[in-house]
Amino acid sequence: MSSWLQGDYRGADNILNSAWAEREPISRPLPDTGRGAAPLPSQGRGRGLGLLFAMAIRVNTHSEEHTRQLGEALAQVLQPGDIIWLRGELGAGKTTLAQGIARGLGVTEPVLSPTFTLIREHRGRLPFFHADAYRLEGAEQAADLGLQEYFQRGGVFAVEWAEHIAEALPEERWEVLLEGGMDEERRITISAFGERYTQRLKVLEEALASAGFRDNG
Ligand SMILES: Nc1ncnc2c1ncn2[C@@H]1O[C@H](COP(=O)(O)OP(=O)(O)OP(=O)(O)O)[C@@H](O)[C@H]1O
Ligand SMILES: [Mg+2]
Repeated sequence: MSSWLQGDYRGADNILNSAWAEREPISRPLPDTGRGAAPLPSQGRGRGLGLLFAMAIRVNTHSEEHTRQLGEALAQVLQPGDIIWLRGELGAGKTTLAQGIARGLGVTEPVLSPTFTLIREHRGRLPFFHADAYRLEGAEQAADLGLQEYFQRGGVFAVEWAEHIAEALPEERWEVLLEGGMDEERRITISAFGERYTQRLKVLEEALASAGFRDNG
């Protein structure tokens, strides 16, 4: 399972497509992303990131609870200030995954969809902020959320429909793409964008392996 960390570049084109697709209209079908590594252009946002290095790991889940277990495993490697973009169509499992992350962070209260509240806060090992940008579009509407304040509070910030407010979010991030399959099958791609995140992929890989997840390339 570790070979892709040592120079497996398969899927780099897909990763690149994913990075660019964030900037496309939201009605566009979600791109397929693959595993691999690629230097990505900073997309001209002027934030001085230069090349953004991205890598990804892909697994399948077979039920709602299985997706929560994946979120729980991911939570083990999360650090204060982490941003997680959650992507996928309606009902793909973004909230379900967020519930698993919350569980892994030690949140005990119920984690509900923040569709109407926009951002919910939960107390755990780290503060967990769970946002939903479905109703928002563009940087202007995102500004109303006061995101910078949340980013500075030393928590984990996970946002569903992140691509709606991509301009207002840091480029460096975890990105989780959930894609539907047959019945309860979901194909889930966890990508790390930027060194802050890619350097933890090895640990994530181990956490996923001990939770029984296998990289499906
Ligand atoms: N493997 C799976 N992982 C996650 N959810 C699954 C899975 N199989 C079936 N489901 C079902 O899919 C639905 C996922 O709902 P969820 O609210 O998590 O989606 P969402 O991506 O947050 O949707 P929305 O875009 O409306 O916020 C639930 O009804 C859940 O029971
Ligand atoms: Mg949801």
